[in-house]
Amino acid sequence: MKLLIFIIIYALVFETASTGLGQSVDEAESRPREPIVGLPCEGCVAVFEGLPDTLSPNARIAPEDEPGEPMRIEGTVYDQEGNPAPVVIVYAYHTDAIGIYPRDPAMRGTAAYRHGKLRAWVKTNEQGHYRFNTIRPSSYPNSTMAAHVHMHIIEVGRCTYYIDSIHFKDDPYLSKKEKKELLEGRGGSGLVIPEKDENGIWQVNRDIHLGENVPGYPGNQDEG
Ligand SMILES: [Fe+2]
Repeated sequence: MKLLIFIIIYALVFETASTGLGQSVDEAESRPREPIVGLPCEGCVAVFEGLPDTLSPNARIAPEDEPGEPMRIEGTVYDQEGNPAPVVIVYAYHTDAIGIYPRDPAMRGTAAYRHGKLRAWVKTNEQGHYRFNTIRPSSYPNSTMAAHVHMHIIEVGRCTYYIDSIHFKDDPYLSKKEKKELLEGRGGSGLVIPEKDENGIWQVNRDIHLGENVPGYPGNQDEG
């Protein structure tokens, strides 16, 4: 009998704890997400999947032991008045050195699964600056599509959207037409000029202009 009472009490306590935990998960799930603008936007939901609670202005995309040529991506994010924009989240993901988005089994069934493991977020500092350390991606296998780094913006509490991917000016697969289009892309130019620093690390600069050429962006009166 004592055992039965113990089981009942234990079950009640456990149930209460589970409910509490369930509520907190629900609360986390129901946190308001920044609305997606600039539709259609494939992969815009994925930017929230695995999003860490705390972010810094610097992050690694590829781990240090990832095969490939090391690369640093950095830049400044500017608001529509041309001022540096702090507290803006920049999300980036790209292929590995053989052009594959290496899948993370833990992400199976999520929208982010297709983005692969080489993904990360940063949050701009007071000067609007951000930096990713990673490797230089390759074109898709058996493809003539230029290598690229996908990028998305989350303006905290405001909106989220993709911007033009980083493309490399020295990429033989990049056409003149594509280069021209990239210069006037979403979020400013996605065309970068890669240069190796004294340590042999590729260095690219991708400044970002919030909302530029993004249809439906709050404040873009004449678009979308
Ligand atoms: Fe891609």
